[in-house]
Amino acid sequence: MGEEESVAQHYSLGSLEARIVDALVATGFDPERLQPDRLAPVDEFHVGGRAATVALIDQMDLHQGQRVLDVGSGLGGTARYLAHTHRVVVTGIDVTEEYVHVARSLTSRAGLDEQVTFHLGSAGRLPFDDRSFDRACMLHVGMNIADKHAVFAEIRRVLTDDGVFALYDIMRTGTGGVAYPVPWASTPATSFLAEPARYRELLAKAGLSVVGERDRRDFALAFFRELRARFAESGPPSLGLHIVMGHDAAAKVANMIDNIERALVSPTEMICRPE
Ligand SMILES: C[S@@+](CC[C@H](N)C(=O)[O-])C[C@H]1O[C@@H](n2cnc3c(N)ncnc32)[C@H](O)[C@@H]1O
Repeated sequence: MGEEESVAQHYSLGSLEARIVDALVATGFDPERLQPDRLAPVDEFHVGGRAATVALIDQMDLHQGQRVLDVGSGLGGTARYLAHTHRVVVTGIDVTEEYVHVARSLTSRAGLDEQVTFHLGSAGRLPFDDRSFDRACMLHVGMNIADKHAVFAEIRRVLTDDGVFALYDIMRTGTGGVAYPVPWASTPATSFLAEPARYRELLAKAGLSVVGERDRRDFALAFFRELRARFAESGPPSLGLHIVMGHDAAAKVANMIDNIERALVSPTEMICRPE
């Protein structure tokens, strides 16, 4: 099985839409008339959830009507947030068929079809014309991709010359053994962690310079502390990322916290502009 097929298999559950809809109903929401923000606990699949999205997106210099590409768009939470809050037109692309299906369904239920579309496809072979996007973002996707240069070169190709690319990935910050499973991979076979310096090098090779960089370790640890406290007080929420992570969600989250606490990995933002 190839890399992308293995990655898609890791994320596919087969019953995700039904499980999210059931959780929405249990939480008291009408799944046919969704407020996009209500979905944030389940559709922002990265460390820090919606708060992390807002912090990253705020650095993209967005303007109403711009065309924005979300690479590895997952369930579409970031794309819907962008469209709903910043009034931009968003295209998402993702290699996991079930995620593309759920992203389309949730977008439709939130009434955002006209502003947000999703494609099934690879970040390394973007089916879009040169310079067809004003902005691009990619959240927690690079860890699943061995050839990051191919992805960055594609993003540079489809971005306008005055564009902005905002990246938020888990990066390698230490040398010890990373504990698996983690949310993006069950084993090291589909995990391709790289150090910030390597990211900078590959971005530069693709014609993108890093104009802003932030290690989000403290933010991540505070986020997990709060999550644990809420969990201890009121148990697991009906609507949460455990639905997306499947049967071993607790182990994935525990390992991720442990890996960050041991300074082996850290969620890191990079804001890039074409050179
Ligand atoms: C941890 S999820 C993050 C999803 C979304 N960006 C978010 O933050 O909610 C990683 C996503 O990257 C997608 N992905 C991984 N490798 C990819 C590739 N080569 N091309 C496109 N999507 C990919 C996965 O299918 C998955 O949806």
